[in-house]
Amino acid sequence: MTQPEDPNRVLIFDTTLRDGEQSPGISLNAHEKLEIAQQLARLGVDVIEAGFPITSPGDFDAVQEISRRVEGPVIAGLARTHVADIDAAWNAVKDAERPRIHTFISTSDIHIHHQLQTTRDDVKGQARAAVAHAKQYLDDVEFSPMDATRADVEFTGEVCQVAIDEGANTINIPDTVGYTMPHEFTEYLLRLYELVPKLKDVVLSVHCHDDLGLAVANSFAGLRAGARQVECAVNGIGERAGNASLEEIVMLLRTRQPDVGLATGVVTQELARTSRLVSRLTGYPVQPNKAVVGRNAFAHESGIHQDGVLKERTTYEIMDATTVGLAANSIVLGKHSGRHALQQALSELGFELSGQSLNTAFRRFKEIADKKKHVTALDLEALVTDELREEITGYQLEWFDVEASSRRPPHATVGIRMPDGEEVRGSFTGDGPVDAIFRAINAATGSEARLREFRVDAVTGGQDALGETSVVLEIAGVSGSGQGVSTDILEAAGRAYVRALSNATRRRGIMAEAEEALATEAEAIRTP
Ligand code: KIV
Ligand code: ZN
Repeated sequence: MTQPEDPNRVLIFDTTLRDGEQSPGISLNAHEKLEIAQQLARLGVDVIEAGFPITSPGDFDAVQEISRRVEGPVIAGLARTHVADIDAAWNAVKDAERPRIHTFISTSDIHIHHQLQTTRDDVKGQARAAVAHAKQYLDDVEFSPMDATRADVEFTGEVCQVAIDEGANTINIPDTVGYTMPHEFTEYLLRLYELVPKLKDVVLSVHCHDDLGLAVANSFAGLRAGARQVECAVNGIGERAGNASLEEIVMLLRTRQPDVGLATGVVTQELARTSRLVSRLTGYPVQPNKAVVGRNAFAHESGIHQDGVLKERTTYEIMDATTVGLAANSIVLGKHSGRHALQQALSELGFELSGQSLNTAFRRFKEIADKKKHVTALDLEALVTDELREEITGYQLEWFDVEASSRRPPHATVGIRMPDGEEVRGSFTGDGPVDAIFRAINAATGSEARLREFRVDAVTGGQDALGETSVVLEIAGVSGSGQGVSTDILEAAGRAYVRALSNATRRRGIMAEAEEALATEAEAIRTP
């Protein structure tokens, strides 16, 4: 990607599907990744880092599918400097409208000595070879000196120079362990500009982690120092404490544009929806007081604040909730609304459904509308996201019976459709109705899953609100998360559990495949 013509345009590089997906417990399948990538395209990000294709066949397939189906943003695949990584990244992104390979190697001595167990010269050589190899395939190549902020800036400059000489068009400076501070990061980047004058001919990017809660502040400092690409993730998810939060950096630039003078191409009205989708599919909740997209981000509790906002919104609000898509949506359907009204309402929300998927959505809508007076935009969004997941899960909850009473422990029986189509049953007497259902599902599927987290939220307010549940479970050390939506909490819980089980089972399969591939590779190296 060449530099944008407008020197004040900041490129948003979204890494929700790569760094974000590396968050503990997140296990998105290819279908869910595609759903997020399509929403990111609607949000108007410039680059989607869709995954790290060498790491597993599942990751490769997801990046390839996104490259083939998502239009608009550049699609990037991550690669270490190894030839096999770069080849895998290329094969995964080559069908994209605008593909990119992002290759990286550490420049800090801590990483070079302890992790890579090599020398600075070797790192320089690997960086040169990797960029040159990637350039044989495509023009758009990004290079990152990993752990740069703890590395010798002179040496990092030498490595960046080599990458630029070989044709890298973006140089990304990562604060890999979230260690730097804004003023220090500014100085580091300014020094890098002095050491590598050619840096001004390429896009300088920043990638900051949030270990000290400074990811957004450091990214902003990077932009003030001259960077024009920010790597960030929706809801700030990512390794350990996460990455810079996309919505925060975007709204910072928008809200303070008159003073800072920088702008992104993000359609901010899509921010809240993107945040909800990512939270639903990853199972990572958004804290209520989260800046920009938390449910209290525009709520006023104290009488003085409420009074002020009623008189004039700007007395206590620096942003308008409608700007980030958080204001109450006008769509409301009732129990007499027909298929066409539903299709239109969904289309307004960005879901184009027809045929079988519209029929299924309509059936679910009717079930809900029978129990709930008004079905709102938030309900429809939760329902459709839930339904879209249905197509790809391994196990399905067909039905359940729960006998609950205050005098006897609850007993549950469930019917589960197995991936091969067979229906199996299981029963369990548990500590509570939810526990009984979860263990009955284990009994039916013959799984030894252990529940790690269980959460219930209401999609909207009111007594008849849709319930949204989230489950994280573990099978033999492999975790999986799943979500479910229903007006009946037990049904929502059961749906979430079977999805988490399907995800964990699928992840175990992928990990076993990856281990097998590694063993074959090691065998091939041993065999002359
Ligand atoms: O944090 C980091 O250094 C990374 C690189 C791969 C850019 O995620
Ligand atoms: Zn990172």
